[in-house]
Amino acid sequence: MKRIVIAGGSGFLGRILIAHFGGQGFAVVNLSRSEAGSRAGCREVEWDGKSLGLWSHELEGAEAVINLAGRSVDCRYHERNRRQILDSRVESTRVLGQAIARCTSPPRVWLNSSTATIYKHTFGPAWNEDGEIGGTPEVNDPFSIEVAHAWEKELNIAVTPHTRKVALRAAMVLGQGANSVFPVLCRLVRCGLGGRMGSGQQFVSWIHQADFCRALDFILVHDELAGPVNLAAPMPLSNQEMMSTLRQLCHVPLGLPATRWMLELGAFFLRTETELILKSRRVVPGRLLSSGFEFRFPTFRAASIDLLAASES
Ligand SMILES: NC(=O)c1ccc[n+]([C@@H]2O[C@H](COP(=O)([O-])OP(=O)(O)OC[C@H]3O[C@@H](n4cnc5c(N)ncnc54)[C@H](OP(=O)(O)O)[C@@H]3O)[C@@H](O)[C@H]2O)c1
Repeated sequence: MKRIVIAGGSGFLGRILIAHFGGQGFAVVNLSRSEAGSRAGCREVEWDGKSLGLWSHELEGAEAVINLAGRSVDCRYHERNRRQILDSRVESTRVLGQAIARCTSPPRVWLNSSTATIYKHTFGPAWNEDGEIGGTPEVNDPFSIEVAHAWEKELNIAVTPHTRKVALRAAMVLGQGANSVFPVLCRLVRCGLGGRMGSGQQFVSWIHQADFCRALDFILVHDELAGPVNLAAPMPLSNQEMMSTLRQLCHVPLGLPATRWMLELGAFFLRTETELILKSRRVVPGRLLSSGFEFRFPTFRAASIDLLAASES
């Protein structure tokens, strides 16, 4: 049975991918900091995300390794959290590279998480993979760009000549369940708080969870896809348009807008950062499209209709 190893597979994306690849008949192994055990659809093996150990044997002969490990970015960016956000990503990438390099039969493909946040805040043309990388200090703290940079650098310097490496520059994944932002947005709308956020002009890039899984399937078999790949639907939209679409679909005619200072205050109490909302992310999937990938949910409306229907069924 072909094996896929997922590092950090206990979280939001991991749970989706375990079900997805398990459903395709793969044996899925989840590398977790929790004690070894079993979770539906996978075998769990303990690791610490930073040092080599018995877990490394799981990579031997595996079809692919997918690294999702990292402390959540949904928190206040104080010194300790910053350090954990950065270290957990860099160290897990480094140790996976070391483990792959020691394999006699290394995995064919290594998909390492990255983020569409790596691109510069923009209201201009959308960024493909060759888009401008960098921070815009008046809008966002350069920290998230520094993390993305360090994360991808660690992947790039890993020497794994027999394993194709891909940096998954994922936009916000729309799905259901814990840690997903979509149900949170719907709750805000239903409470009458679904107006524009900030100016509302900032672009939002996103991808439906089903297309996220399908894109990974596609990357696994398309050997020309190495290096950075944007995982974002082809039609980013403004925050104002996104909120208005959700209000229509939830049949809530009005939504209170949130000004920047209201968001700052809310973010403080919710222990998160406004950058996650206010940065203009206009990212498109250049390499996926030019390789022939077709999105099932290219528009935010279609994605939302599907997710709302699934949540009601
Ligand atoms: N969700 C999105 O929309 C999205 C978009 C773009 C990029 N990403 C990136 O994709 C990756 C996965 O996202 P996700 O939403 O599934 O994240 P998540 O729900 O926070 O899950 C991440 C997993 O990483 C492990 N982890 C947490 N802290 C760690 C630490 N200090 N050291 C090592 N491992 C740690 C945890 O597994 P254990 O506790 O079992 O070890 C956790 O389940 C993240 O790196 C995220 O930044 C996500």
